[in-house]
Amino acid sequence: MKKRSILMLGIVCAVVIIQFIRPERNNSVQEQGESMAAIYHPPDSIRLIIQQSCSDCHSNNTRYPWYAEVQPVRWFLEYHISNGKKELNLDEFASYSRRRRIHKLKAIKNQITDGDMPLPSYLWMHKEARLSKNQKEQLTTWIDKLVDSLKSTE
Ligand code: HEC
Repeated sequence: MKKRSILMLGIVCAVVIIQFIRPERNNSVQEQGESMAAIYHPPDSIRLIIQQSCSDCHSNNTRYPWYAEVQPVRWFLEYHISNGKKELNLDEFASYSRRRRIHKLKAIKNQITDGDMPLPSYLWMHKEARLSKNQKEQLTTWIDKLVDSLKSTE
């Protein structure tokens, strides 16, 4: 065999082999009682925005697209999910201290107004997650009110 064919065969084998290395899915059937929505009862419109734009990386339940079955795509997704959850897990918000919750809420507002979240790479494939000006305003207004009320219960 020519050197080039050996190389091609090697690449094909590698692509096939990596398909079998799948990280566990970020799907949990746990109760959602600790979630941000369960403790702060956002209106449905806000809940929907967060669900559509943030929950895939910041909760214990990701809606996986079909291409997540193709490696190395899944590794890339899991990397974002585990880093995203480390910073902010909306399903475990109740377990954060009051100070941390306030800090995270402010961070959410900053990320949204600066346009840093959702991650740009996510928006390529999830057009519905893009936040309109109006959605950003709804979210930030809701967060401002919540932060004020959390601060006033000191
Ligand atoms: C594709 C995955 C993904 C999506 C979708 C996503 N994030 Fe993130 N988020 C991350 C990752 C990864 C980090 C870790 C830091 C980094 O890489 O920027 C992060 C970090 C953050 C942080 C920083 C926490 C801190 O304390 O500094 C906040 C706040 C945040 N995201 C809010 C949001 C909000 C709000 C949305 C929805 C509008 C959202 N994210 C959507 C992946 C995501």
